[in-house]
Amino acid sequence: MPFKPRHRRPLSEMTKIRSQVAGCGAYLPDRVITNAELAGRLDTSDEWITQRTGITQRHVAAEGQLTSDLALRAARRALEAAGMRGDDLDLIVLATATPDNTFPATATKVQAMLGMTKGAAFDVQAVCSGFVYALSTADNFIKAGQAKNALVIGAETFSRILDWEDRGTCVLFGDGAGAVVLRGVPSEGSNAERGILSTHLHSDGSNYDMLYVDGGPSLSQTTGHLRMEGKEVFRHAVQRLAEVVDEALEHNKLSYGDVDWLVPHQANRRIIESMGRKLGLPPEKVVVTIDRHANTSAASIPLALAEATGDGRIEKGQLVLVEAMGGGFTWGASLIRW
Ligand code: UT7
Repeated sequence: MPFKPRHRRPLSEMTKIRSQVAGCGAYLPDRVITNAELAGRLDTSDEWITQRTGITQRHVAAEGQLTSDLALRAARRALEAAGMRGDDLDLIVLATATPDNTFPATATKVQAMLGMTKGAAFDVQAVCSGFVYALSTADNFIKAGQAKNALVIGAETFSRILDWEDRGTCVLFGDGAGAVVLRGVPSEGSNAERGILSTHLHSDGSNYDMLYVDGGPSLSQTTGHLRMEGKEVFRHAVQRLAEVVDEALEHNKLSYGDVDWLVPHQANRRIIESMGRKLGLPPEKVVVTIDRHANTSAASIPLALAEATGDGRIEKGQLVLVEAMGGGFTWGASLIRW
């Protein structure tokens, strides 16, 4: 019998699936440490921290409160906002550099606590760029048809890996978690333009020793402490973030003027402001949480998204630009039509 190909619609004619943000959620631990409190135990001052970073306070997890606890609370709020239950999910991607255990993935603990019985849950590790990496991973699973409803979480307890005697680093970070639910929808009709337009990821491992933790299961069998060449990281961040933001806009044939909201990783107010200036955005179009949250690594962007959607600033149809840079180095950006 001669081979007869089955009639299939050409790929170009098939309706594309796009990931839309169905809901956001956030959680911050109750305990707040102010700059003044730190100045009482370290050779630092509220003035130095505020002027150099924009940070005035940070939240810190209680004893026994784990990254998974923070992640679970943010996840529940995101699911509620999306009108979904844990069992509606078929994917959890959790970005963290401070997992509960070396293994299993913190995502699997969250999966069990949410009552999600199908699909897959795993962690990604890209430090402060973790949320953009996790978002990109989940988006690609959805576009490939391998997942329908995905939960993307950024959750951290950096307070556990800080050297609380190193004033150059311990004043900069805080704990917290944020989450977004992504839903795969056919890109047609009123949904044609909405959702994640693209994600862009990069890394350069030659700079791994600029920002790292000096311990780990293989290296020292200890957890270790965060170490950073702050000035060098700052210099790279400004340059790399500018490049990846241009890449994301060019990829979508969009320009600076099209961006409604910049939701950047919150590492330093000066880095955030330089990106806002580059885009020509007025300060009120840049979502800033660093003053109250400090740098929460992978949690900073979903925390900021939850805040700016919760208070009604980000509205349906607006163009949201997220970007982050972190240890590795890793960096990335994404454009989302809300
Ligand atoms: O999220 C991942 C990506 N991370 C980042 O993007 C962080 C990027 N880096 C930064 O945000 C900034 O480099 C820092 C906030 C970490 C530091 O600011 P800086 O303006 O680069 O200060 P510096 O490290 O050059 O330090 C200036 C001075 C030094 O004293 P001398 O040598 O000039 O006498 C430091 O010892 O400030 C001193 N210093 C402090 N003084 C009071 C450093 N930390 C403190 C402190 N309080 N907490």
